[in-house]
Amino acid sequence: MTSKATLLVCIHQRSSNASCGGRGSEQLLPQLNLALDKAKLKVRIEPIHCFGRCQQGPIVRIAPGGAFFSEVTPESIPQIITELRQAIAAASSQPERS
Ligand code: FES
Repeated sequence: MTSKATLLVCIHQRSSNASCGGRGSEQLLPQLNLALDKAKLKVRIEPIHCFGRCQQGPIVRIAPGGAFFSEVTPESIPQIITELRQAIAAASSQPERS
């Protein structure tokens, strides 16, 4: 399934633990890619630098305008894939804007 959806993954790294990068968000990237491949979802992953929710990281967001996921771990990935499918289905049922 091809989609305009993007998965935004905060990889911001600080010396303290209060950052997504400090909590292992970069290690999530290959696992998210693998899960998207298995789900046959052509969704781009875009590493970004801070949503301002650093205490709850790692943070992942479905874009545009989708759900935020906090304290993401590998165990969170199936839920992200489920919500991503729902977001793609909802977007594909909307008429194109010109
Ligand atoms: S470091 Fe990820 S939300 Fe700020």
